[in-house]
Amino acid sequence: MKHRIPLVAAAVTAAVLGAVAVVTPPVYAVGTSATAGKHADGTARGRYLIRTSGCNDCHTAGFATTDGKVPEKDWLTGDALGWQGPWGTTYAPNLRTYFQTIDERSWLEVARAREFRPPMPGPSLRAMTDDDLRAVYRYVRALGPAGSPAPAYAPPGQKVAGPVVVFPTPPK
Ligand code: HEC
Repeated sequence: MKHRIPLVAAAVTAAVLGAVAVVTPPVYAVGTSATAGKHADGTARGRYLIRTSGCNDCHTAGFATTDGKVPEKDWLTGDALGWQGPWGTTYAPNLRTYFQTIDERSWLEVARAREFRPPMPGPSLRAMTDDDLRAVYRYVRALGPAGSPAPAYAPPGQKVAGPVVVFPTPPK
């Protein structure tokens, strides 16, 4: 009888550890297979990068202001919200159409060499590996074309019609 409690405790511990060991792998597997299952053609990595790199915050209208409540079919269709500063007024272009107009090799060159105007995070793009840039390309291309073009860039001093975020002069 004296040995019962430790034995029971050991059994419970073993059961708990066993449960953890059994439960943990499927938790990871569910996350992976959900994305891989939907994008079995290898674009799951690109989808992951788009989601974790914040591309939708600027390239998808309403994404940043609704905590991301925009359906995937509307992702990356560009935004008519202007970003205004000493560089003029920029607009996050429609990437769904952009990636239909460029081949994968050219995309790698653009991502490495192009100097984007603010607030496009060019350094983040350049920091991606070639494989990651390819994954981004394949995912957005696979989403297919959608949406309409964002307004064109306006140089400094040129008036624009729509709403703009004006960057204040940074403190000295
Ligand atoms: C903070 C806002 C912002 C974020 C975040 C952002 N972009 Fe941009 N992006 C812009 C703006 C603004 C431009 C236009 C820049 C210019 O006029 O030079 C742009 C331009 C681009 C272009 C050029 C498209 C064309 O038609 O020439 C590509 C490609 C691009 N972004 C991809 C991305 C990707 C991929 C991500 C995520 C890793 C991303 N962007 C994140 C704002 C953003």
